Amino acid sequence: MERRRWLQAAVLMCFLVLCSGRELKDKPAPVYNSTLAKTLAEYTSAVYTNDLSQLFTWTCEKCGDLTEGFEMVELIIDVQNCLEAYVGFASDLNAIVVAFRGTQENSIQNWIEDLFWKQLDFDYPGMDEAKVHSGFYSAYHNTTLRDGVVNGIQKTMEAYGNVPIMVTGHSMGGAMASFCTLDLIVNYGLKDVTLMTFGQPRIGNAEFSSHFKKYLPNAIRVTNAHDIVPHLPPYYHYFPQKTYHHFPREVCVVLFHFRLL
Ligand SMILES: *[C@@H]1O[C@H](CO)[C@@H](O)[C@H](O)[C@H]1NC(C)=O
Ligand SMILES: *[C@@H]1O[C@H](CO)[C@@H](O)[C@H](O)[C@H]1NC(C)=O
Repeated sequence: MERRRWLQAAVLMCFLVLCSGRELKDKPAPVYNSTLAKTLAEYTSAVYTNDLSQLFTWTCEKCGDLTEGFEMVELIIDVQNCLEAYVGFASDLNAIVVAFRGTQENSIQNWIEDLFWKQLDFDYPGMDEAKVHSGFYSAYHNTTLRDGVVNGIQKTMEAYGNVPIMVTGHSMGGAMASFCTLDLIVNYGLKDVTLMTFGQPRIGNAEFSSHFKKYLPNAIRVTNAHDIVPHLPPYYHYFPQKTYHHFPREVCVVLFHFRLL
């Protein structure tokens, strides 16, 4: 037993060093909690429910189990762009959960192919040189989602106080979740905001990633989570890899933990 633990620890170290390179020396890896990942995967999955009344009343197929007792506060639907998000209070987590849905299965390909290479200057303060994917950026910043989400968070805080905020999303929804999290921290000055995404496409260049990491050192981007696939939408694996820079490191750590636990 002892030997096995050592072996696991040794493998973990190799894995972390291989994956994260120099960064490991500077800061400890973000804490990855598999229960939380499964829970957030369920929240992410629920947003794909087609029956909106089931979603609103939290009686959908995915709305039980780990997410029981969730109270929906704001359901935001952008019909024109086929986007959706919700905000509510998770009593188990004592946190506000914000979940984003990307487009329907066949149209994410369009978003990515049409818009992937169109980079946009990112005009957040102090982030010169940062460029982002214009489609994903606009899907959050230039639709009804941003106002809806901010409004939902305000309402939830009025009812439950300044509880932590957990933002999540799958695929393109993960891309929007990332922009949202950064927005809440930089533009709204919220402090306790965390991000966990699933199968998220890349959203910006290297400069953007490094700014992102400064604001969100503990963001977790799950990319290959065999253990939680049942908790995710069926087309979890359906997202392309291209040459944008991911915000760094989290993947490998997560991957490894999934094998360990
Ligand atoms: C992991 O997250 C769950 C909530 O989903 C929490 O109850 C638990 O305490 C966390 N574990 C650790 C080690 O932080
Ligand atoms: C935002 O939307 C407006 C009108 O819908 C459009 O003219 C503008 O180009 C969009 N901005 C971005 C960055 O996509």
